[in-house]
Amino acid sequence: MKKIVILISGRGSNMEALIAARDAGNLPVNIAAVISNRPDAAGLETAARASIPTHFINHKAFAGREAFDSRLAQCIDEFEPDLVVLAGFMRILSDGFVRHYAGRLINIHPSLLPSFPGLHTHQRALEEGVRIHGCTVHFVTPALDHGPVIVQAAVPVLDGDDEASLAARVLRQEHLVYPQAVRWFAEGKLTLENGRVRLAAELAEPAALVSPVLAASGIR
Ligand code: GRF
Repeated sequence: MKKIVILISGRGSNMEALIAARDAGNLPVNIAAVISNRPDAAGLETAARASIPTHFINHKAFAGREAFDSRLAQCIDEFEPDLVVLAGFMRILSDGFVRHYAGRLINIHPSLLPSFPGLHTHQRALEEGVRIHGCTVHFVTPALDHGPVIVQAAVPVLDGDDEASLAARVLRQEHLVYPQAVRWFAEGKLTLENGRVRLAAELAEPAALVSPVLAASGIR
């Protein structure tokens, strides 16, 4: 069974979705550890309650980004994971760290990349007046919120939406597509070849890659 390590900084609801999928028998992975750079990350308690080993590495205790990343990598590598899963890990990662995990480091971002990398994605989507918003699971490259896309889920932006309502609609999709992407990896159906995502033939169909919500909303 493939081993994963999850990195968080806060609430940890995506991590929770991964744990729930595992517990439901839908995600055949060993969640070897959850690591946070913040001691008060609520997700640490959730992970501990699920009997998953947790670690806290305080980025403020290190002189610079490289020093922190190298300690972080040391901690991760003790678990020998097949995949490192960023789930709301609010740190910019150094090139060396990203290179070390090439092809086995994934992230979820709350927008349809390449639109809206960075912070405050929902507010920015509202300000731009986009009609469709969503989330993206992607392999990580040294550029922020960038990299080969594994799966995206789209949601409509409705009249009357505010940042909270739109964020909640996107988050529901995040909790579906992230376990799905990790499952594909765990089942050997997802690889990165020459910078391109390769999916098993049965997955590489539009129906498997686009959120059902989009169809249900009447937007095509
Ligand atoms: C999510 O919106 C995720 O897309 C982004 O950070 C947020 C983390 O939420 N990277 P949670 O900690 O998983 O609840």
